[in-house]
Amino acid sequence: MTHANAYLTAAMAGAALLLIGVSAHGAGHPAAPAAPMPAAVAPPPAFATCNACHSTAKGAANGVGPNLFGIVGAAAGKRPGYAYSPAMKGSSIRWAPAKLDAYLADPKAIVPGTKMMIPGIKDAAKRSEIISYLETLK
Ligand code: HEC
Repeated sequence: MTHANAYLTAAMAGAALLLIGVSAHGAGHPAAPAAPMPAAVAPPPAFATCNACHSTAKGAANGVGPNLFGIVGAAAGKRPGYAYSPAMKGSSIRWAPAKLDAYLADPKAIVPGTKMMIPGIKDAAKRSEIISYLETLK
């Protein structure tokens, strides 16, 4: 190896180190992954019928029926400021998903005397979509 070659080798090694340094600097601050925004989930089409009587936003006013925010797992007949039927008020139901499913299929079979006057949702897939949606309201 001549002196000239040794100098070149050293110079190239230095350039390579400089390049590593530059790229390490460039990659040293990756953008933080964007935090998922807590966005409201869109209701399924089957919920349109419920919307006519029920609000879903937290703290929204009761309609013909009570507000449904946080209803899954909650005790029946306890929404503040809503005048329930004595049947619902005294039902001591807890709205677990299976109980909601039965109620939505045939309201007056589960709460005889309820004032929720709908014939019931006969399609199990639609009830399941509605309940999955209700579970997001928390
Ligand atoms: C015509 C109006 C009307 C429609 C449509 C309606 N509801 Fe209701 N809902 C009511 C009323 C009124 C009550 C109160 C029942 C009572 O006090 O007996 C109620 C009560 C409820 C309750 C019990 C709430 C609690 O605080 O215990 C749930 C759950 C519920 N409705 C879900 C639904 C869902 C889901 C749909 C759509 C499939 C729906 N409702 C459609 C009027 C309606």
